[in-house]
Amino acid sequence: MNKIKDIRAIEVLDSRGTPTLSVTVTLDNGVSASAMVPSGASTGAHEAVELRDQDPSRYFGKGVLKAITNVEEIILPALKGKNPLEQTKLDQLLIDLDGTPNKSKLGANAILGVSLAIARACALITKKELYSYIQELFKEILSFPMPMMNIINGGAHSDNTIDFQEFMIVPVGFSSMHDRIRVGSEVFHSLKKLLHEKKLSISVGDEGGFAPHLKSNEEAIEYILLAIEKAGYKPKEEVAIALDCAASFFFEDGLYLTQKKMGSPKKVNSLEYINYLVSLTEKFPIISIEDGLDENDWEGWQVLSNRLGKKVQLVGDDIFVTNPLFLQKGIDLNVANSILIKLNQIGTLTETLNTMKLAKENNYKTIISHRSGETEDTFIADLAVGTNAGQIKTGSLSRSERTSKYNRLLTIEQSSR
Ligand code: PGA
Ligand code: ZN
Repeated sequence: MNKIKDIRAIEVLDSRGTPTLSVTVTLDNGVSASAMVPSGASTGAHEAVELRDQDPSRYFGKGVLKAITNVEEIILPALKGKNPLEQTKLDQLLIDLDGTPNKSKLGANAILGVSLAIARACALITKKELYSYIQELFKEILSFPMPMMNIINGGAHSDNTIDFQEFMIVPVGFSSMHDRIRVGSEVFHSLKKLLHEKKLSISVGDEGGFAPHLKSNEEAIEYILLAIEKAGYKPKEEVAIALDCAASFFFEDGLYLTQKKMGSPKKVNSLEYINYLVSLTEKFPIISIEDGLDENDWEGWQVLSNRLGKKVQLVGDDIFVTNPLFLQKGIDLNVANSILIKLNQIGTLTETLNTMKLAKENNYKTIISHRSGETEDTFIADLAVGTNAGQIKTGSLSRSERTSKYNRLLTIEQSSR
């Protein structure tokens, strides 16, 4: 039997230049594997806790040395000598070792890094690709995900004037990974040309999508539709639109602020905001809306789900935070029909897989997601393939922390031909 011999972590930088952990697990046969932990900006209130040092003399308080100490001084002694192939048991041990409901003692960043590095080490010792090791844990068929590619960034991910956080294209008319990614890239470049011609900024936001100063959410969608056509594709049939409103960002004192970032906010209530979302779906080929409403507006979510749930994919991110308790509440209340899956919202691989199982058993669609603060780690590409997740959201067609996931999917596709 292989045993865990050592676990070490170092501070590395994420795509925003903020520190995060890279964790390396070494087994007694000399095999070692690492994993890096991502970090969100528009985080849900009920996410597992990302432990930061709060020491203002380093990285403006954002260092992760405490989390590293937790890995090396608390987690290592507990896991040393254990069989790495027992992922479920080891993840439970990590959960128990922390002992809090939101992993605030050891830090979800410390715990997740260990959990993922163990899975990678196991793929190596079982001589499997990571996706097929995950498939063995999850007991599903393998499949390639439909990507939702974020080509205009707004909200908390840019300093432009757009309120919605993500405007994504979905290459629904294409079945291979390489065609989906090629089409995405062509539309991305066609949009770049259009924005440049209009003398709008072609700098990008946190997830590699353009972040021009536009007048409204509608204008962003209109530019994307034009870019799809200019690239030679049919909007709707070949390339559809998906949104992440990340509505908690513009929800204040029970009301939704329209045009918050334009500096001329108008306050509307939940029902009025739902009318607005419905009108967008009538006007544009929108097939998916994530976080259309605030993370605590369960009543609003019920109304929205009633009105749009049969026609549009309604994705719960901040409202579910990859947590089976919140997802179960959503299932019971008929809220949303789909869940965004982010490993670091819950903190271990096993819990993530359990949430996905619950979603699948209840016919909720699953979308594996990156965070706005990412690294070059490509774990989520394998996770999407190995769990038959169906969809992946991993940003724009630029910036290596985004394209590394697409490139991993292309590599998996090539090797499986
Ligand atoms: P975050 O954004 O990583 O900043 O939370 C991603 C999302 O909201 O889907
Ligand atoms: Zn989101």
